[in-house]
Amino acid sequence: MSTFWSGYIALLTLGTIVALFWLIFATRKGESAGTTDQTMGHAFDGIEEYDNPLPRWWFMLFVGTVVFALGYLALYPGLGNWKGLLPGYEDGWTQVKEWQREMDKADEQYGPLYAKYAAMPVEEVAKDPQALKMGGRLFASNCSVCHGSDAKGAYGFPNLTDDDWLWGGEPETIKTTILHGRQAAMPAWKDVIGEEGIRNVAGYVRSLSGRDTPEGISVDIEQGQKIFAANCVVCHGPEAKGVTAMGAPNLTDNVWLYGSSFAQIQQTLRYGRNGRMPAQEAILGHDKVHLLAAYVYSLSQQPEQ
Ligand code: HEC
Ligand code: HEC
Repeated sequence: MSTFWSGYIALLTLGTIVALFWLIFATRKGESAGTTDQTMGHAFDGIEEYDNPLPRWWFMLFVGTVVFALGYLALYPGLGNWKGLLPGYEDGWTQVKEWQREMDKADEQYGPLYAKYAAMPVEEVAKDPQALKMGGRLFASNCSVCHGSDAKGAYGFPNLTDDDWLWGGEPETIKTTILHGRQAAMPAWKDVIGEEGIRNVAGYVRSLSGRDTPEGISVDIEQGQKIFAANCVVCHGPEAKGVTAMGAPNLTDNVWLYGSSFAQIQQTLRYGRNGRMPAQEAILGHDKVHLLAAYVYSLSQQPEQ
């Protein structure tokens, strides 16, 4: 802030306080000392006003707030460029700096703990109750928006508690996923195999997990299988069991990211899918991701309920 605006703000603030002080004393002057039954002489809707002094407690409260304001303005940065008498605000106050202060304090407090866990393998950390508690808290504030507070996912966001993985469930693989993010690339097939091809291959894909084609729709499953062999095995594997290196899911089980209905699978095939897991390294840092990897890994290690 330039000196001019700093002075302007200080003058306005202090001027207002002085004016309020003057106002309260100026109006007090003409008052009668004790309680009277004399009215001010005006009436609103039959309501009249006594000519009595301000109650003492009210007056003292008013003076108190002014004194508090002056004390506050002396101690904390508030008057233009004034830094405040309290230590810690030497380079001014902003919300960002306040947040940074809190973060630094937390890092100082938890830093050694994070470092201790960071030095342990993910699998070991996943057995430590305190680490899991910290991981759970990190998950709640950073991941639950997408994966759900129970980590069971939603449409388009994978369930992290089952033992079915798009990108792999090894402790180190999970950590890599969280650190660097993932970008899935399921191509759109609309222009490649046409509507009929999509219908046939959708029928074939559903048959892999034992699903029948809905009544009234005719599909050529054999034709679908041929299309699959020619176009899909590169990513989904020869048995359609998925390839984690590509993030291509297993199509033979009952876990579906985008739904298993005939219509939903056709939609997936027509327009493709591009799920994106955002990289966390720059946001959370290595040590927090390490704890999160342990937490996520632990979720899939629990016996099915
Ligand atoms: C270039 C690699 C690649 C090819 C080729 C490919 N897929 Fe995919 N497929 C993926 C990926 C990656 C995903 C996961 C998309 C995501 O997570 O957003 C996926 C997702 C799917 C899904 C959704 C699964 C679910 O759980 O909802 C279906 C169905 C599917 N693919 C079928 C096919 C069929 C049929 C073909 C051939 C016509 C095919 N894919 C070809 C990579 C591929
Ligand atoms: C903006 C939404 C979003 C946020 C926030 C998010 N994720 Fe994800 N995450 C996704 C999506 C979408 C995928 C699936 C990517 C794909 O389709 O391949 C995913 C995939 C994953 C996977 C891989 C699952 C598998 O089957 O291989 C893991 C592990 C994961 N996320 C953990 C986390 C953790 C831990 C956090 C918190 C730091 C987090 N995610 C935050 C959207 C999100």
